Order: sequence, then C-alpha cells, then structure tokens
Amino acid sequence: MKSLIVADPELINTMNTRDFHLFVDRTAWKSGDPLNDRSLFQLMGDEWKAMRSVISPTFSSGKMRAMHPLIIDCVHRLDQYLETKAINGDELDVKRAMGNLTMDVIASCAFGTQIDTHNDHKTNAFVENAMKLFRFNWFLWVFALLLMMLPDSMREWFGFSLMSATGGKFFRSAINEITARRRADPNCGQYRDYLQLMINAQNRNADNSEDQDIDDLNEHIFGTTDSKDSLKPKQPMKAQITDNDMLATSLLFFIAGYETTATLLQFLLYSLSVNEKCQQRLYEEINAFDGNYSYESIARMPYLEACIAETLRLYNPLHVTFRIAAQDYKLGDTEIIVPKGTLVVFDIQSLHHSPEYYPNPEVWDPERFLPSNRDRLVPYTYMPFGTGPRNCVGMRFALMEAKTAVAHLITKYRFKRTANTAVPLKYKKFKIILTSEVIYLGIEKR
Ligand code: HEM
Repeated sequence: MKSLIVADPELINTMNTRDFHLFVDRTAWKSGDPLNDRSLFQLMGDEWKAMRSVISPTFSSGKMRAMHPLIIDCVHRLDQYLETKAINGDELDVKRAMGNLTMDVIASCAFGTQIDTHNDHKTNAFVENAMKLFRFNWFLWVFALLLMMLPDSMREWFGFSLMSATGGKFFRSAINEITARRRADPNCGQYRDYLQLMINAQNRNADNSEDQDIDDLNEHIFGTTDSKDSLKPKQPMKAQITDNDMLATSLLFFIAGYETTATLLQFLLYSLSVNEKCQQRLYEEINAFDGNYSYESIARMPYLEACIAETLRLYNPLHVTFRIAAQDYKLGDTEIIVPKGTLVVFDIQSLHHSPEYYPNPEVWDPERFLPSNRDRLVPYTYMPFGTGPRNCVGMRFALMEAKTAVAHLITKYRFKRTANTAVPLKYKKFKIILTSEVIYLGIEKR
C-alpha cells in the first residue's frame, strides 16, 4: 500500500474539510471480527455516517452534564486512594493512579458498571478482562502491517482481531446481561450512561435532539463539532443499532478513552509538579470557585483549559491520524497526484513540535493557549483530537473528565517533584499512545 505523510496545515485542513468526502475512511478492509469492524473507528462510508449521526448527539453538552455526577463519584474514589498515599508519605505512580480513574469512569459511563480499580485491580473480573484488551505491542504492530499487504479476502478469512478472544467474550456476556436487566426495568430512564443512551437509540425513543451547547471555551481551540452536511449519507440510510454495534461501541469507547485520557492526566500532573509556579496559579484560579466544580464551573477556568491544551500539544497522546484516498487526488497547487487507495497520514507530531508554529516547542508553557494569546496561534497547527468531521467524537467527554479530576485534585493536594521524578522523561518505543517510563511524583495534602 502506498502512503503519504502530510504536515502542511493548509493541506490538512483542505483534505479534512472541503475535500472530506474523498477522505472519509480510515481503512479499506474488514478483519471479519464484528467487534472490530462494527466500531465507529473502523466503519466506512455511509455506514460510518449513519452510526456517527447516532453517536454524536450522545456527546452533546446536555448529555455530558447529565453524566458529570458519574465522573465525580469516580474522582471521589481516586481522592480516597490519594489521601492514603499523602498521609503515608508514599510516592505516586501517576500513570497507574490516573489509569485506575479512567478505567472506573469508562466502566461507569460506557458499561453502567461501578468498580473500584484502585482497590480491586487484582480481583475484579472487569478489570482483569479489560487489561486483556490492551495487548498491543511491537509484535502485533508488525503482524498488523503484514496483514495490510494481503488481499482483502485473505485478511477476512484470517479473522485477525486486535482484541483478545476471552476479553471479547467476557464483555459480550456482561453487556448482554446488563442490557437484558435494563430492558426489563421500568425505571431505566434514571440511568445516564452511554449504554442506556444506546439502548434508547435502539428503541427509537431516544432524546437525540441537539442540546443547547453552553459556551464552553474548549470548542474553539480543540476543534469543531460535527458538520451535519458531511454526515449526510449518499444513499438515505437508517442507522439500525444492533446488539453487536452496541458492544463494539462500548468497547471502542473503552479502548479510545481509557489510555488517552490517563495519558493526558499523567503528563499534566507531571508538568505541574515540575512547574511549581504554574501549579500555584492553577490552584488560585480553581480555589476561587470555592469547591464548586459543576459542569458549568469547570468550563469557565481559562488557566485550567490552557494547561490541558498545552499538555495535549507537547505530549500529544496520538502522533498521527490517517485516511484512505477514495479517488485520485491532486495535492493543493502542486502537480502531485495522490493515487486512489493511498494511506494518507496527517502528522500531528510534526505540527505540535515545530518551532515555526510554537517557539521553544519542547517547553511546556500554558501561556500559549490563554485567550489573550490565542490570536498568535497559526490555524490548523493544533489537532490533538484530529480534525474535520471524523475527529474524536469523545473530545468533550475527555475534556470534562480531565477538568473535573484536576479541579478536584489540585485544590486538595500539592503534587511535587522528588528525587525519583525523571527530568527529562524517557519514552518507550513501539507504542501506539505516547508512553513514558514510570513517572513518580510526591503528593501532600494542602
Ligand atoms: C485525551 C483524550 C483523547 C484523545 C487525545 C483522543 C484522540 C483521538 C484522535 C486523534 C482520534 C482520531 C481523529 C481523526 O482521525 O481525525 C480519535 C478518534 C476517536 N476517539 Fe478519541 N481521544 C481521546 C479520548 C476519547 C474518549 C474519552 C472517547 C470515548 C468516550 C474517544 C472516542 C473516540 C472515537 C469513537 C473515535 C473515532 C471517531 C470516528 O471515527 O468517527 N476518544 N480520538
């Protein structure tokens, strides 16, 4: 398969917005495993559009606000865990602690299941099977690349899946059991999680109306929301959500939302620990809200927003996004023709780390993203959540989760650099998501 890497901001924008209809799909092949092929990440063409238009409204501001209490519960469990660490004077393995939080959050929001990963990680079947899903390693990368070279029919016959068979089996029966219980429950309207939103969509009694979006700052810097036109299928098409679709979507939320958000939180707490003045400034901003971390309040903390934006720039969890060219394509005003079927890779890493767009690019500096400095940012050079109509559908959820967690933690604890905190960080190779060696931080109560 031919491939092309694009790092020019204007071209990335044109290909993902004006010419989006030519770059809709991520892959041009199916694995044969419905858990993989029916997920929003893998679906193609009109099937993707139909599914995205069902899923997108479940991430509206109104739905996020309703889900916010579920996240607060999970943050309280993290708080209890951190309090013990702080009292005992233990150092914190920050990735593990944040991973436990995001695991609890996804279990609660996507699977309607309450767990306590901080304390139950050795005994809880959910956690054990979830871990099995993350068996990405260099061997799997090479294997997946080799498979891409095979003809479609052989690949499907091969039935390659990135998910472990036992993990998939566990979650299939868990979802079946929970959905059966919910369908029989006359009070199921009380549930606010994604599973219920999908059951509602399946029953066609969903309230999928667009909620009035509150004026949260993040819309502007992190990316745009879906354009309805780009989601119009070529052929009129009803999105029927099957049980397989529901399972594939819940699993995808888990895979897409667990490690990415934990990575953001890890690097943010690390950056605040090695930049004490920034941590103090953030503390003062959040503390002024007097313990009110409602959905509306966390959207009105510009320094918190800038710290998150800068962390996602310097430590972008994903290095690239990619699409398949649906037909031969002339590249901007060059004479280059990109042949149909080319894998086009959009290079987030180069943009975010370019001194041309971000002076001193390797320095963590939230000032860049403060509202007063935003006019200095070069358009289309910032895309931690991808760009265009196929950008990250979970962006608003991830930001809400990160803001809620940080607002709560920073007012209660001081995170500190210790002799065991690596500066600079060392990174692991052959990882899909940016991964550093273990980061240890000191933690004390304020
Ligand atoms: C900091 C956290 C996160 C980051 C940095 C991130 C980043 C990304 C990126 C770069 C893409 C590819 C976009 C493109 O191709 O243009 C993506 C897609 C996606 N993400 Fe996220 N993500 C995060 C959190 C989440 C969460 C919490 C969820 C779900 C609850 C989620 C669900 C998805 C899905 C379903 C897609 C595929 C969208 C589609 O194909 O229509 N992500 N994400």
